[in-house]
Amino acid sequence: MIILDTPIDMHLHLREGKILKDVLPYTQKQFAAAVVMPNLNPPVDNKERLKNYKQEIIENSKDFTPLMTLFMREYSEDELLEMAEEIFSIKLYPAGITTNSENGVKSIEKIYPVLEIMEELDIPLSVHGESDGFVLDREREFKVVYEKLARDFPKLKIIMEHVGVADLLYLLDEYENLYATVTLHHLLLTLDDVVGGVLNPHYFCKPILKTPKDREEIQKFVKKHPKIMFGSDSAPHPIKNKLKGAAGIFSAPVILPALAEFFDGDIESFQKFISNNARKNFNIDVPKKEVKLVEEEWIAPYMVGDIKPMWAGKKFKFKVL
Ligand code: NCD
Ligand code: ZN
Repeated sequence: MIILDTPIDMHLHLREGKILKDVLPYTQKQFAAAVVMPNLNPPVDNKERLKNYKQEIIENSKDFTPLMTLFMREYSEDELLEMAEEIFSIKLYPAGITTNSENGVKSIEKIYPVLEIMEELDIPLSVHGESDGFVLDREREFKVVYEKLARDFPKLKIIMEHVGVADLLYLLDEYENLYATVTLHHLLLTLDDVVGGVLNPHYFCKPILKTPKDREEIQKFVKKHPKIMFGSDSAPHPIKNKLKGAAGIFSAPVILPALAEFFDGDIESFQKFISNNARKNFNIDVPKKEVKLVEEEWIAPYMVGDIKPMWAGKKFKFKVL
């Protein structure tokens, strides 16, 4: 049996209404807490919306702590002072780069005043780091932006989200204030899983999956680096939207069984990646929750509501109790 202490998903999309009700039980079963993304329509970018969204999550779960985020815009100091206690971070989406990011940031310079306030109030910045260049180069091209932000705001904690190329992970040792999350899919899949055989729209996500070499490097980093945290980026879309091209992989149901196989007995590294690194790096203090996995065959669900999960129908060696 594997016993995990207080697993935390550092990057999660829950949506609202029916989808939230359908998907949240899977995260609640496997995690003590999760950092919940704000890219709803309209976005979570004011006190009222933040309060109501948190309430909806709490009403639909138990033994689970939502760590809330705000969608980046030009907030005033008063607004942030009012909401600072209620949020884990503010999420920066470059405008138009991913799902519901049309009203994201058009020019990073414009949000410099907000970043100054965040630095002062000790509010971390979560970043979707992609340029608008060629799809496979977008994360590497964003490296200079991460470096500039890290230099210009040395006390601001910056999380490079869902890193798919190791080039970015090398920055962790160069800049004290940079951190990273890695998803299940960037850790275990490659672009071949999307377009290498029969086209698989269910594995289409932003940032796009990369090469076997990128995956191999990320796997090595994840087993050893204290600044890398698990963030699933589980992003449910109804199947009809996926077939129209929506980006996002709904990985929540299979996370711990898949990671248990990946870590293959190295429980110490598993525990650090799934919880301790996040708790240490960001002083996250949530109620303790033990999550147990037993070595027993388990088959991933084929459908969850109208959503097809990652590895639907696949057999795993571990089952979450
Ligand atoms: C996410 C979504 O659907 O909200 N999609 C994705 O491909 N990862 C948004 C995001 O995190 O980019
Ligand atoms: Zn995301």
